[in-house]
Amino acid sequence: MSYDPNWAQVDVSSLPDLKCTPPGPRSRELHGRASRIMKGYSSQVRLFPVAFERGHGVTLTDVDGNTYIDFSSGIYVAGLGHCHPKITEAVQKYAGRLMNCHDFTTPIKTQVLEKLASITPGDLNGIQFYDSGTACVEAGLRICRAATGRLEFISFHKDFHGKTMGAVSLARLDPSQGLRAPGFFLTPRPFCYRCAFGMTHPECDLYCLRYMDTVIQEETSGRVAAIVLEPIQGWAGSVVPPDDYFPALRRFCDERDILLFADEVLTCMGRTGKMFCVDHWNVVPDVMTLGKGLGNGFPVTAMVVSDKYKDQVEKISASTSYGGNPMACAAALASIEVIEQEHLCERATQLGDFLLKRMAQIKEAHPIVGDVRGKGCLLGMELVKDRETKEPFVEAGQRVYQRAFAKGLAWIPAGHVLRMSPPLIMEQDLAAKAMDIIEESIAEVEGELT
Ligand SMILES: Cc1ncc(COP(=O)(O)O)c(C=O)c1O
Repeated sequence: MSYDPNWAQVDVSSLPDLKCTPPGPRSRELHGRASRIMKGYSSQVRLFPVAFERGHGVTLTDVDGNTYIDFSSGIYVAGLGHCHPKITEAVQKYAGRLMNCHDFTTPIKTQVLEKLASITPGDLNGIQFYDSGTACVEAGLRICRAATGRLEFISFHKDFHGKTMGAVSLARLDPSQGLRAPGFFLTPRPFCYRCAFGMTHPECDLYCLRYMDTVIQEETSGRVAAIVLEPIQGWAGSVVPPDDYFPALRRFCDERDILLFADEVLTCMGRTGKMFCVDHWNVVPDVMTLGKGLGNGFPVTAMVVSDKYKDQVEKISASTSYGGNPMACAAALASIEVIEQEHLCERATQLGDFLLKRMAQIKEAHPIVGDVRGKGCLLGMELVKDRETKEPFVEAGQRVYQRAFAKGLAWIPAGHVLRMSPPLIMEQDLAAKAMDIIEESIAEVEGELT
C-alpha cells in the first residue's frame, strides 16, 4: 500500500460542518428504532443521541451528514485517528486470511508479542491477550491471587476498572449491583484538588498513601495480594497524581510484599504523552493491563505481568475465545508501529501542553470552572457551583456537553467533569477551534444558570 502520511489532514476552516442542528431527523429516526430494542446506553449517548455513519482521522460524521470535530477518540480508543489506513489494512488482511484459531500461535501473534514485550516497562514480559478491558482486568486480579496466594485487593475511590463482578468490586458500586465481593477494599485517591483529608501537597507528605496502612490494618485480614489503580483516573476526569506518588507507592508495595497492579487500559499507547503512563514516573508495576488505544478501535487488550510472575499465568486458565485472534494482533502491531514511526507520544505531549494552557485561560475567565488538569491528550475540566465550596455543578456539565455537541464537537461527559480525549494526531489549530466551542458553550450555560 502506498501510505499518505497526510491522510487525516482536514480543512480546518470547514469544520465543524453542520448540515442541520444535530441530532438531525435521520439520527432521531434511527436511534428511536434502535433504542426501543437496545437498552443500557452510556450517558454519552443518552445526553446526545446522534447516530454516526463514519469516522475519518479527527472527524466523525453522522447519518444526517453533519461532520464533528472528534474530542473523544470514540471513548479514548482511536488515538491514531479513526480508520487509520495502516490499521484498516492490517485488519482487512487477516479478515480475509484467518479470523480465529483459538489461542494457537500465528506468525502475527509471535510478532506482536515480541514487539509488545520489547516496549513494556522493565521486566514486564509475560503477556496474554483479551478482547475487552474488563476481561483483562479480571485476569490481572486472578494472576495477583495466583502469584501471592493472597486474596485481598485495595483499590481507589472513583477509579474505574470495568463492569464484570470482580472489576465492579474494585470501584464505587451502583446500588443496584448489591454487595462488593469479599476481599475488596477501597481507599482515597491522591486527588489534590479534592483531598479526602483536607490536606495540601507536598506538606501532606503523601498522607493518602500512608493512610493505606490503616486500611490494611483495620479493614483487611492483612493478606493483601495487590494494590490496583489507574495511573491517571480517566472516568473521574483525568485526575493526575502528584509526581512523587507513584515512586512512593512502588516502595510502599515492595516494603509490604504487595503487588502493584497498574490498570493502563485507558492511559496506555501514548494517550498521556508516554507509551505507558507509568513511564512518566519510571515505575515498573508487577501487573499491567492495556486496552483502548492498543488496537485503535479494534477490540484487543492485554494483561502483562513481570518475568517473576509470568509462569503463574499458566495456573489461571488464561486463554479466551477471541483473545489474540489474528485481526486483533495485526491491529495492535500496526498501532504500536504507527505510534513509534509517527512520534505520537511527542505529538500528544505538545498538543496536551497547548490544550492545558488554553484550559487555564478558560478557567481564568469563567467562575464555574473549578479545576483544569490532565497529561498529554487525557484532559478534564471540573465545573463547580462555587470555587470555595467546590460543589459539583452537574447540570452545567450536562448542558455544556450537549451545547458543544450541538455546535459540532463530539466528546465525553462525566457529570460535572468535562472530559477531553482528542486523537493524538489532531493539529493544534483544529484543537483550538474545539476549545473555542467549549468556551462558548461554557459562557452560554454560565449565563443561563448563574
Ligand atoms: C481504566 C479502565 N479499566 C478498564 C476498563 C474497562 O474496559 P472495557 O470497557 O474495554 O471493558 C476501562 C473502560 O473505560 C477503563 O477506563
